[in-house]
Amino acid sequence: MTPEPAVLATRGLTVRYGDTVAVDAVDLTFLPGSRTAVMGPSGSGKSSLLHALGGVVRPDGGEVWFENERLDRLSEAQRSRRRLARMGMVFQFGDLVPELTLVENVMLPLQVLGERARPARSRALEMLDALGVAEVAHRRTGAVSGGQAQRAAIARALVHRPAVVLADEPTGSLDSLTAEQVLDTMVAITTASGAALVVVTHEHVVASHLDDLVVLRDGRIAVGAPA
Ligand SMILES: Nc1ncnc2c1ncn2[C@@H]1O[C@H](COP(=O)(O)OP(=O)(O)OP(=O)(O)O)[C@@H](O)[C@H]1O
Ligand SMILES: [Mg+2]
Repeated sequence: MTPEPAVLATRGLTVRYGDTVAVDAVDLTFLPGSRTAVMGPSGSGKSSLLHALGGVVRPDGGEVWFENERLDRLSEAQRSRRRLARMGMVFQFGDLVPELTLVENVMLPLQVLGERARPARSRALEMLDALGVAEVAHRRTGAVSGGQAQRAAIARALVHRPAVVLADEPTGSLDSLTAEQVLDTMVAITTASGAALVVVTHEHVVASHLDDLVVLRDGRIAVGAPA
């Protein structure tokens, strides 16, 4: 039997900061349509792993394969292009543009990809509506709550139908009911497009909405099936 081709995979992935080994020789495989929770104590390397998976940082060792290409061998500009076009990332500490409205933020990936303003706006509004924040779509990001901004960041990560969605604590600012609704929306949208979903979370209830679990400890996989 031929194994299903992974959309994203690592081999011996290692990320260091000086003497700190944040990610220590990690092997992971993400299939299209897979839904994975990444858990582990603070400092165990979850964000570092996600940043390397998304090509935000180049790993210090090992390989990152994305859509049959060695992401770790590409230049920063090439990695950015792959990420903008084919990945959706939700960062732990947010990175929406505060001067823009929520809908303008969500339109950005589509506009970078050459979509015209009118369809980009209407698709962005659809995504904000799916995440329950349509009513504040036209407010500047600096003038909405943390949880509303977080949902806009999720909308922005999903809007261009990426092949992989990498989300770092995407529901950390949400109450538990809203968190579950947002998770369900992320699962529904990625399932419809066949995208792989990877969610870093401290919350077991969030992980329970996903199929696979990887637990990191000191940068290594403590629980989870390395492929
Ligand atoms: N920019 C940096 N410079 C130096 N050390 C760093 C840097 N970023 C992370 N680290 C260290 O790398 C290790 C892994 O950090 P990382 O942010 O990946 O953990 P995490 O699992 O995401 O934690 P949290 O749950 O608190 O977000 C920690 O020891 C951390 O202190
Ligand atoms: Mg983190």
